[in-house]
Amino acid sequence: MTKIQVGLAKDVPPGTMKGFKAGDARILISLNDGKFYGIADRCTHRGCALSKGRMEGEVVTCPCHGSRFNLKTGAVVKGPAEVPEPAYPVSIEGEGIWVDV
Ligand code: FES
Repeated sequence: MTKIQVGLAKDVPPGTMKGFKAGDARILISLNDGKFYGIADRCTHRGCALSKGRMEGEVVTCPCHGSRFNLKTGAVVKGPAEVPEPAYPVSIEGEGIWVDV
């Protein structure tokens, strides 16, 4: 795994999510209950950007066909997607958001 700084903690206010580039990947960072979480920003159904979807609590809804994923674990909450999103360890160092990808 490689540790990459993807952005700044202030870019993700509490209760929101944002997509960041991390090398060749895109990571969706969310801040929930005071903790940052990272999952892939690419729906496992047909590849739409989850960062363009809607966040409700700890669940994101894909803008394309409505699959729902848990932002903390990447688990599928509702299909049509069947495969969970990869989840990435996130840490805050200084003002930066770091992800192990
Ligand atoms: S691409 Fe996300 S639900 Fe189809």
